Amino acid sequence: MADLPSDNRDSFSSKFGVIAAAAGSAVGLGNIWKFPYIAGIYGGAAFLFVYLGFILAIGIPVMLSELIIGRSSQSNAFGAFKVLAPGTPWRYIGILGVSAAFLILSFYGVVAGWSLQYILLSVQDGFSNKSPEEIATLFSTLTESPVRPVVLQLIFMVLTGAIVIVGIKKGIEKYTKILMPLLVIILLFLCVKSVSLEGAKAGLEFLFKPDFSKLTGDGVLSALGHAFFTLSLGMGTLITYGSYVKRDNNLLSTVINVTVADTLIAIMAGVAIFPAVFAFNIAPAQGPGLIFITLPNVFHQMPGGFIFSILFFILLTVAALTSSISILEVVVAYFKEEFKLGRRFATVLATILISILGVLCSLSMGVLSPFTFMGLNIFDLMDWISANLLLPIGGMFIAIFIGWVYGRKKVHKEMSFGGNLSGALLSVFMFLVKFIAPIAIAIVLLNKVGLLKFS
Ligand code: PHE
Repeated sequence: MADLPSDNRDSFSSKFGVIAAAAGSAVGLGNIWKFPYIAGIYGGAAFLFVYLGFILAIGIPVMLSELIIGRSSQSNAFGAFKVLAPGTPWRYIGILGVSAAFLILSFYGVVAGWSLQYILLSVQDGFSNKSPEEIATLFSTLTESPVRPVVLQLIFMVLTGAIVIVGIKKGIEKYTKILMPLLVIILLFLCVKSVSLEGAKAGLEFLFKPDFSKLTGDGVLSALGHAFFTLSLGMGTLITYGSYVKRDNNLLSTVINVTVADTLIAIMAGVAIFPAVFAFNIAPAQGPGLIFITLPNVFHQMPGGFIFSILFFILLTVAALTSSISILEVVVAYFKEEFKLGRRFATVLATILISILGVLCSLSMGVLSPFTFMGLNIFDLMDWISANLLLPIGGMFIAIFIGWVYGRKKVHKEMSFGGNLSGALLSVFMFLVKFIAPIAIAIVLLNKVGLLKFS
């Protein structure tokens, strides 16, 4: 296969650019907004340990598999399977991925819209002199309102579309390279501040001292779903990005860099949040409002908190943006290559379609809240179906594809461009994708639907 495809396909300009873009995709609302609140619901440390196990045994091999599929096919998530396994039903895995992208971006944009609102609130110094109760009310009033969050979500979607429309630009590579380290520095400050609050110890214990009796079957499923969500796996994001990666890139080192960065940032978010949660007597199982309620409490207690809070929400929005573009790109690359649309038209179309679903998600926090399915409103349903079902199912088939269809020889060949995978490592990788990842995912899913009960 040629180094670069015959059409004028974009590609990342440098190795660091690949890491910045893939880490930009991985590090997002999943780490800072979602991880703390689901860990809060499922008992903290026990959840963290199961989640880390899934990252190691399943996340890393599936990420490598996606990059291999993308780079060797030089095609979008659907087209990749048509190139590598022509005439087989494997391409439907790509459709599953594109559908997951729709669902994820619809609720992701809503949360990013909240983050935009919190930038405005921070600039107006809106948290000072407020009690923890008032800060909690501020959040529920915003999310339940029918207009403001919808407008903010649409603004965020337009921003996402505006970046994707210009292609895999050098701009975004450069911009992630500067902003991601800045996010880490601010998180570090918040960690220090949070840990030094009175009563912080209980929060650290909650995060690091496991009590496995608290871990339900639902908790294990959420840990698996979150491992996929946080690493942007199971829906072809890394197949799509992999298709823009040049042959001289060492895929394994990219995967390790991205996974370590993503995991450290999630743990740092936990350290920034749980000590404060316990210090301010907020329930750790708050749900989606957790960071929007705890962090403003920390900000208005700290010297310079005003500036911190502005910076934090700007960076949260940016982290969301570098992820949302990677989600939109999955749909755009698919529309563009499979329906022969121009990038412009494909981007506008995808942005509009996803935004429509997004508006419903936003309204489901307020006026549409009576509409529920399995006890979940539209927002929670999109989140639940995508993270807990579509991503693990997608990931399971991607692992099976690499393990059983693509096979060891081709993996070895693809991995020897720009890097190497020693015989032993290759065997470990093949064992994980052939057996461990698919079987572990199947057990967790079967347990969920009740066909197999172990908890
Ligand atoms: N990984 C992103 C986050 O943690 C979300 C995401 C999911 C991005 C799936 C791409 C694909 O916020």
